[in-house]
Amino acid sequence: MYLGVDYYPEHWDADMLEEDLQRISDMGANIIRVGEFAWHLMEKTEGEFEFSFFDHVVEKAKSHGLKVLFGTPTTTFPAWLAAKHPSILSKDAYGHIRGFGGRRQYCFNSDTYRVYASRIVRELVNHYRDEEALVAWQIDNELGHEGSDICYCEQCHAAFQAFLRTEYGSIEKLNEIYGTIFWGQTYNTFEEIPLPQPTITVHNPSLRLDWSRFRSFSVNSFALQQIQLVRMYKGGHQQITHNIPGGFFEKAHDPSAMAEALDFVSYDNYPVWGGLREPIAPAHIAMTHDFIRGLQGRNYWIVEELMGAQGHNVIGYLPRPGQAKMWAYQAMAHGCESMLFFRWRGMTRGAEQFCLGIIDQDNEDGRKYHEVRAFMQDIRKHGEVLKSEIKPDIAVLYDFDNIWSWQHQQQSQEFDFTRELLRLYTPFYKLNAQIDVISTGKDFSRYKVLVVPVLQIIDPALADRFKAFARQGGTIVFSFRAGIKDRHNNLNFRQTPPCCIRDIAGIAVRDAESLQERQCVKLKGIGKAEGLEGSCGVWRDLADLETASALYLYDEPFYKDKACVTVNTYGKGRVYYIGGGVDSSIMDTIAREIAAEGQIRHIEAPEGLEVYMRSTGGEEWLFINNHTGSEKAFGENVVEPYGSLLVKWKGLN
Ligand code: GAL
Repeated sequence: MYLGVDYYPEHWDADMLEEDLQRISDMGANIIRVGEFAWHLMEKTEGEFEFSFFDHVVEKAKSHGLKVLFGTPTTTFPAWLAAKHPSILSKDAYGHIRGFGGRRQYCFNSDTYRVYASRIVRELVNHYRDEEALVAWQIDNELGHEGSDICYCEQCHAAFQAFLRTEYGSIEKLNEIYGTIFWGQTYNTFEEIPLPQPTITVHNPSLRLDWSRFRSFSVNSFALQQIQLVRMYKGGHQQITHNIPGGFFEKAHDPSAMAEALDFVSYDNYPVWGGLREPIAPAHIAMTHDFIRGLQGRNYWIVEELMGAQGHNVIGYLPRPGQAKMWAYQAMAHGCESMLFFRWRGMTRGAEQFCLGIIDQDNEDGRKYHEVRAFMQDIRKHGEVLKSEIKPDIAVLYDFDNIWSWQHQQQSQEFDFTRELLRLYTPFYKLNAQIDVISTGKDFSRYKVLVVPVLQIIDPALADRFKAFARQGGTIVFSFRAGIKDRHNNLNFRQTPPCCIRDIAGIAVRDAESLQERQCVKLKGIGKAEGLEGSCGVWRDLADLETASALYLYDEPFYKDKACVTVNTYGKGRVYYIGGGVDSSIMDTIAREIAAEGQIRHIEAPEGLEVYMRSTGGEEWLFINNHTGSEKAFGENVVEPYGSLLVKWKGLN
């Protein structure tokens, strides 16, 4: 197991190196990550490669028993490169160049950038290929983050047109599928196709979905080229990873293709960033881990685990004593098996003065240092627990085409994809059931429950897989707008929603309404839910029952016969349909019912206490994490505010 820190020796006086490394290793670390922003140090002038600075760092690290994870430095390029080749700089939606000075401003489709990036990577990797202490390469840094996934430059325009030519073959086919007859937008050639830059009203939905696919393709093709290059030059003992940032559902980047080419996936875990008044919800943090683990279907690393408040110009919530340490345990519970903390010491100069570290400007071993030290000492004893496989019964499914389709047409101002995914994920999380968050492209047949939030794009092949799953006894939970669209982001013609899955859901949705801010409609339980009440915002599908039974009807005179929540029996399975943004009490009841009926392993615990079980060698271990500011008890275990425990499970008495 590797435990360590992100260390930037180039930020500090050379005579601090020895002392820093000593302190890092005294804290319990056995690895440092270096290099990912240091291109200029390695190629101060074009073609003059120089690695002596890092040679010295690596030698010193070794003398302190530390291994090295080396980041290729292509996220931040040297100023001389931008000055010589301004074409490497990406452009925003208005065609403005993103100037030198921040980071990640290169264009993924710039051939010139790829030449220079490949050269530094080749030189660097070749230089350290025989270095035993260098155990892994991180390619670039958080690809596609901070808006860098999008670029509207001329190179991207030409590459987009070429991408469409490959996808469609003929312009007639594209015109037909896009429906460019609408507003007379028919193209004679691929060269006439615009970038979806700001215009009056909106661009064609199929074009916009293709634009997102193309952006994702561009990021992945850059990543894959670099992965291939590193693989060609690296030593046999060295592995390749990439640190995927949070906010993945907001980007035009599906990291799956890249993830498959990595030796292991890494994640940067920041439950607080910028001006957040409080951390993202515990279930949200958990979901990000389950998503990252789902990319390769196995355990992963975290190479940036937050310790202090973070932000560039604005910072927010200060993690309470013990809280960042608890997030580290939470990550380990969900499948992280090696962890590096961001960062050893906050930097007093440069753009990240307020991205705090394990230690800060006073350079003293303070509270955060002692938290990390205690964490490292304890977790190191549990290598076997951390290696154990996580095999949930429940899968939450996503599909990037669908996410992008929603990004472009929000339909309700209140709509947010991540929030809708969490609406269905959270009730199972609260039951401490284990959950995978995976793409619809993965084989989901082995699960007992599929949770399918707001999947408006469903094609017949996917629908068949859902049908087979339900027929064989699986439970599926769909939510609103399911199946209204096809793979080209067009509405399905001659079908009644939920198209393709109407028979398994057992309902027809002929009317639907977008609900706006503070607009909440009342729901009334019926049948099994008789006597219960609830509410729904964001959206409402007005469902007519076919073979399904209603669980909640709209509690209003006008639509009193229309259902919001239904359940249908299909084959040996059951299909729930959640026709709107229902409140948590409704989803909690449904999740509890599904867990009980499907014999899904879950653990009842007080609210705010997350209990995650891992089994190894016939033993069961519990990660008990208190996400609240008050003491909580689970069996005989008392967990202090924001505290965390990893204990052998003796059962509840
Ligand atoms: C991450 C990034 C780091 C640093 C950190 C600050 O997104 O990878 O380089 O900027 O945020 O919180």
